[in-house]
Amino acid sequence: MPRLAAILVVLPLLLLSLSAVVGTAASLPRGGFGFEATLRHVDADAGYTNAQLLARAVARSRARAATLQSLATLAPGDAITAARILVRASDGEYLMDMGIGTPPRYYSAILDTGSDLIWTQCAPCLLCVDQPTPYFDPAQSATYRALGCASPICNALYYPLCFQNVCVYQYFYGDSASTAGVLANETFTFGTNTTRVAVPSISFGCGNLNAGSLANGSGMVGFGRGSLSLVSQLGSPRFSYCLTSFLSPVPSRLYFGVYATLNSTNASTSGPVRSTPFVVNPALPTMYFLNMTGISVGGYRLPIDPAVFAINDEDGTGGTIIDSGTTITYLAEPAYDAVRAAFVSQIRLPLLNVTEESVLDTCFKWPPPPRQSLTLPEVVLHFDGADMELPLQNYMLVEPVSGGLCLAMATSDDGTIIGSFQHQNFHVLYDLENSLLSFVPKPCNLI
Ligand SMILES: *[C@@H]1O[C@H](CO)[C@@H](O)[C@H](O)[C@H]1NC(C)=O
Ligand SMILES: *[C@@H]1O[C@H](CO)[C@@H](O)[C@H](O)[C@H]1NC(C)=O
Ligand SMILES: *[C@@H]1O[C@H](CO)[C@@H](O)[C@H](O)[C@H]1NC(C)=O
Ligand SMILES: *[C@@H]1O[C@H](CO)[C@@H](O)[C@H](O)[C@H]1NC(C)=O
Ligand SMILES: *[C@@H]1O[C@H](CO)[C@@H](O)[C@H](O)[C@H]1NC(C)=O
Ligand SMILES: *[C@@H]1O[C@H](CO)[C@@H](O)[C@H](O)[C@H]1NC(C)=O
Ligand SMILES: *[C@@H]1O[C@H](CO)[C@@H](O)[C@H](O)[C@H]1NC(C)=O
Repeated sequence: MPRLAAILVVLPLLLLSLSAVVGTAASLPRGGFGFEATLRHVDADAGYTNAQLLARAVARSRARAATLQSLATLAPGDAITAARILVRASDGEYLMDMGIGTPPRYYSAILDTGSDLIWTQCAPCLLCVDQPTPYFDPAQSATYRALGCASPICNALYYPLCFQNVCVYQYFYGDSASTAGVLANETFTFGTNTTRVAVPSISFGCGNLNAGSLANGSGMVGFGRGSLSLVSQLGSPRFSYCLTSFLSPVPSRLYFGVYATLNSTNASTSGPVRSTPFVVNPALPTMYFLNMTGISVGGYRLPIDPAVFAINDEDGTGGTIIDSGTTITYLAEPAYDAVRAAFVSQIRLPLLNVTEESVLDTCFKWPPPPRQSLTLPEVVLHFDGADMELPLQNYMLVEPVSGGLCLAMATSDDGTIIGSFQHQNFHVLYDLENSLLSFVPKPCNLI
């Protein structure tokens, strides 16, 4: 008997079923460096319908997946192209509030686990993108320090430039500069009112020339593994997040330093903590690679060669990353084909014919009335030492255009990307000190 997850088909409100009552207050740790912050979804509060939210997220994830994948195929040392692609890949999904300067000016930055640089648009602005808060003006801050060209952090940039002994960074977007400006140190303020913390001398890009889209943010904050990222600079290299259900109005949470622990809160978990080691890909040291070993559908381990998920030692292509900025999961083609075949054989519903542009192509027609319920196979992602049993809401969705019931996964020509849709309602800990990713199922709207 395949392992099944049952749902009601009275209304296709699959994605809303986890909205629940308000929870109890968190019990927070004391002592040591850390903070807690709120993550807002980029499309929150914009009045989109559920269908529009899904369509926008799926479209963004397609663009991001394509650029993340092309990153791996670059010639080593092709820094300009790498920088260009990194920024283009950086249309994220979540915004984090933070303060910059003394006194602090608060703004929201796109959180990106796929890149390192922290940057915001700065006055005087030669070219800027619309943003919801005023541009940061270094002249109004007592703690701004431009960095010299000899500073070690300047040399950590992909493509450092020197202008009048000031370190200049530039990241490109297509044919025009996406962000370029001065690399500087500033005091940043993080956290919510109860855990607010000011940290001096964080190096960041003060962008005077910017183009592209900032998705209603005023800059970006890199959470990658490289030395320029916030995680590396804060010297307390662990963070965790708990992403609420995709269509829930409740914001998600981010925890940093001592607050980043999977048992710091009082909301009950619905399973044991699992941990899997990160894998380093020398070709892409910024990104969080995992050792994925297989996938089960309906209780059956699919016949996928683990090499399908592995990094190609010769050129650094392939591999499996976890990425908060990609919505749906992209599986390397042989793995996707196996998952699709298992769904088609286990779900007794007609397949929908999808258009060629459709990102999702494992889609089923809803059964005709009067059927009231339908069973779907369970999905487990296997990692080295850790199984991630996905709740139904994390792998099935109602596709906005066709109205069909679709698998929230797509095929990839290169590597595998575990997207944020798959870790809704998991508390996920990135522990860089021990090089471990840990996760536990949790109702994130309750913590
Ligand atoms: C920014 O937010 C506004 C309303 O909050 C919304 O109408 C607009 O589409 C958003 N822009 C982007 C690029 O997401
Ligand atoms: C946080 O503090 C600011 C200013 O002190 C206040 O305006 C705001 O309402 C507070 N927010 C919360 C959630 O308490
Ligand atoms: C900038 O910050 C880094 C890291 O905290 C520090 O090592 C460096 O001395 C600072 N540079 C200046 C000019 O303040
Ligand atoms: C959970 O808490 C216990 C003690 O309360 C601690 O020893 C353990 O390391 C914590 N586990 C995680 C994953 O944070
Ligand atoms: C969690 O919250 C419940 C209800 O408020 C309370 O009874 C319980 O003692 C709390 N547990 C911990 C470990 O704080
Ligand atoms: C899908 O398209 C094929 C070929 O055009 C057709 O034979 C088949 O009946 C279609 N299936 C559905 C479910 O519409
Ligand atoms: C991945 O995990 C498998 C199974 O646990 C192990 O045999 C293999 O050596 C791991 N590969 C890497 C690159 O860590």
